[in-house]
Amino acid sequence: MEVKVFLVSNGKMKNQCYLIYDHQMGILIDPAWDYELINNFLLENQIILKGILLTHSHPDHVNLAPIFAADYGVPVYMSAAEIEAYNFSCLNLVPVQHLEEIVIGDFVINPLVTPGHTLGSTCYQIGSHCFTGDTVFIEGVGECKSIKAAELLFDSIQFFRNYLPKYALIWPGHSFGITTGKDMDYLLSNNLYFQIDQKEMFISFRMRKNRPNPLAFH
Ligand SMILES: [Fe+2]
Repeated sequence: MEVKVFLVSNGKMKNQCYLIYDHQMGILIDPAWDYELINNFLLENQIILKGILLTHSHPDHVNLAPIFAADYGVPVYMSAAEIEAYNFSCLNLVPVQHLEEIVIGDFVINPLVTPGHTLGSTCYQIGSHCFTGDTVFIEGVGECKSIKAAELLFDSIQFFRNYLPKYALIWPGHSFGITTGKDMDYLLSNNLYFQIDQKEMFISFRMRKNRPNPLAFH
C-alpha cells in the first residue's frame, strides 16, 4: 500500500491531499484545488480510482470531490454527523458512522469520528496509515470555533491517542513546517496537545487569544 502526497494550493490556502493505492486501485482523501496534478498521477500510473474519503466539509478539503465522483463514478464517504450538521451534499455521497468498516476492493477503512474542528470531523484509519484532515496535525491540532468545540476536540484527542498504535503514520490535511507521515510515537512526544491530559487546560490552551497568528500552535 503506497501513499502519494499531493501538495495543492489556492492562493494562500495550502493543502495536502492524498492517494492511497495498491494493485492499481486507489482512494483519494480530501481532493482539492489541482485536478490536473491528481488526475495525471492516476492516469500516468494506471491507477483506477475506487472511492473518495472526506474528513470534513470545509471547501479546501472537498473542492474536487464532486468532479472526481462524476468522472470516475465512485462513492464519496463522509460522516453522517458532518453531513447532517452542515447540510453537506455531493454526488454519490455515502454517510458513514464511527468505526463502521468500509470495504473498497482490498482496502479496509475504519472511520474514526473525532469531532472538534467541525461537528463531524473524521479521521480514516487504513492499515498502518491514518488520514486526519484538520483534526490532528503533526505540529498541533485543528482550530476550534468555540469552547464547546474545544471540549469535543479534547475527547477526540484522548480517543485518538488511546486507539491508534504507536507505529501508525499520521497524514494531516496541512503541514505547518514538518513533513507529514510521522508516526504516533513522534506525535506523542512532540505534539503539545497530546501531552495535556486535563480538559480545562487543553481548552484554555487551544482557545488562547495571544497566538501570534491563528496557525501558531505554541
Ligand atoms: Fe477545516
